[in-house]
Amino acid sequence: ASIYSSASILGRLVSFLMNLHITPRTIWLTRHGQSVYNTRGLLGGDSPLSRAGIGYADALRCFVRARDPAVIWTSTLQRTIQTGRATGRGCLQIKALDEIDAGICDGMTYAQIADRFPSVADARAADKLRYRYPQGESYEDVIRRLDPVIMDLERSQEPVMVIAHQAVLRALYAYLVGQAREDCPHLSIPLHTVIELR
Ligand code: F6P
Repeated sequence: ASIYSSASILGRLVSFLMNLHITPRTIWLTRHGQSVYNTRGLLGGDSPLSRAGIGYADALRCFVRARDPAVIWTSTLQRTIQTGRATGRGCLQIKALDEIDAGICDGMTYAQIADRFPSVADARAADKLRYRYPQGESYEDVIRRLDPVIMDLERSQEPVMVIAHQAVLRALYAYLVGQAREDCPHLSIPLHTVIELR
């Protein structure tokens, strides 16, 4: 088993190195517009945009027209799809960009989690990077599933816009700027903000 795993690590390393390039280009990262769940402080779910979120998506349309990304990637959740659709461009939906799966806590507020599942709230506060929600994911799980997306980002020589979610963008941003993995779950990725990386 160890021979197989070292062969696959080597294979991934070779493919990663072959896809590296030094062409200057821009990557834009943005969360979806504010969702109905965001207005209620609820985690996860698949709710549509709020009125303010629709306003952000409309503003993003002007940004996209001015900056002209070659491709736009979204997750498969409707809040990113709706945000992407408002830009008037075709978007590629990527399942690996879906938000962290909060498992049994999906659809709850942080206060409800602390009340109903205090051990979950405590364990997550103690080690947010490694803590896996029951029936859900940890940040480490999210980082792992983003591997192929990062490969595609590295391979692409064109300007790319990624419309995704808080936890996922923390992981992508940390990778792209070389931030320590431990810091990733605590990075600030506010709503209604575009991060431009060159
Ligand atoms: O609250 C918005 C949200 O995207 C949730 O859907 C998700 O569970 C959460 O952010 C991730 O942030 P944190 O890891 O800080 O709870």
